[in-house]
Amino acid sequence: MSSPGSAAGLAGVVAGRTVLSTVGQQGCGLTYRGYAIEDLAEFATFEEVAWLLLRGSLPTQSALDQYHQRLQGLRSLPDPLRNVLEQIPPTAHPMDVLRTGCSMLGCLEPEECPPELSKQFDIPDRLLATFPSMLMYWHWFHRDGRRIDTTCTETPTLAGQILHLLQGHPAEADHVRALDVSLILYAEHEFNASTFTARVVTSTLADIYSATTAAIGTLRGPLHGGANEAAFELISQFASADDAERGIMNLLAQKAKIMGFGHRVYRTEDPRSTIIQQWARRLAQQVGDQRLYSVSERIEAVMRREKKLFPNLDFYSASAFHHLGIPTLYFTPLFVFSRTAGWSAHVLEQRADNRLIRPTADYVGEAPRPYLPMEHRKESQASP
Ligand code: COA
Repeated sequence: MSSPGSAAGLAGVVAGRTVLSTVGQQGCGLTYRGYAIEDLAEFATFEEVAWLLLRGSLPTQSALDQYHQRLQGLRSLPDPLRNVLEQIPPTAHPMDVLRTGCSMLGCLEPEECPPELSKQFDIPDRLLATFPSMLMYWHWFHRDGRRIDTTCTETPTLAGQILHLLQGHPAEADHVRALDVSLILYAEHEFNASTFTARVVTSTLADIYSATTAAIGTLRGPLHGGANEAAFELISQFASADDAERGIMNLLAQKAKIMGFGHRVYRTEDPRSTIIQQWARRLAQQVGDQRLYSVSERIEAVMRREKKLFPNLDFYSASAFHHLGIPTLYFTPLFVFSRTAGWSAHVLEQRADNRLIRPTADYVGEAPRPYLPMEHRKESQASP
């Protein structure tokens, strides 16, 4: 329960400053370093966006070419990390695989903390390049005992790398672009829960692996990144749009939360949703299966009519990812692959102007009281 002076869930609290993105401020929708998300999704690639977030400006063509080469050269996994991935059970959640992989890489290639300025992008780039390798190495080892080569040399981009490693061959260009756009949309979002976690960890002067591991843990929950997985479970259970309408009305009558709807900051729409919805429609047409898309559209209509709530990025991402052939449990890991750019940029920004993040709480407990000796305690007081 909140009390005067506190804000439940820190809603509306300004907890710091950033130059990385605006979420609905100053009449803008979402911008990354001043560039509108609509323009970035239309004209840029994920690597351009990662460069922009980390280094501050859009890269020239030669800088971008070198960046592709650099990331490609960082994709291989050290042997002890492969061994750890082999030990993680096949039943583990893929987010736990990434959390563990990140932590292990931090043991093998620790960060000099704080790093020299000239080296500050080394670990962000390494994490961007290796997260897909970690997940796909674990995937194939447990699926059919293969120890795959994760360098994937024919494929220069992160989106291409992910689909290639998952499918075992280069993906078609339209699918690579669909995933690339999705990675752009997921790359950065101001002081969301996982980014704020990364900044809190960084504010203690801890290393970037600790910040990223904590951020992955935060992202896993269904109120945050896990919503794309939960949204797919919801959408895929309905056989038709009419079936979905009945099902959602039932869920709303039970006061259930509908995953993939609502947002802490946006009030009328999530600008990212409009973009990914177009891709979800296009991919549904390509695979010749309209069920998930028409179910999604009907759920959106019911939620607007009944609750005045709008879809967030996770809702239409769910069917788009499915039509790209991505297993449901890998939806939230895709978010990690992308948001690593935003998290890392926030870590560097926090370090550049650091002060320990340590808020205070309104105490709402017992008034000060004398210690109660053992012989005066009653059974009913002792039980939890
Ligand atoms: N389904 C049904 N009702 C919802 C809802 C949803 N997805 N999102 C919000 N609401 C309702 C709440 O029940 C609440 O109603 P009440 O005032 O009658 O109790 C009201 O809207 C405010 O919601 P609240 O959860 O307090 O807002 P918040 O700012 O704390 O939470 C989210 C924001 C994103 C966590 C919330 O909208 C949510 O849980 N959405 C589903 C998970 C999701 O998609 N997460 C990804 C976010 S990008």
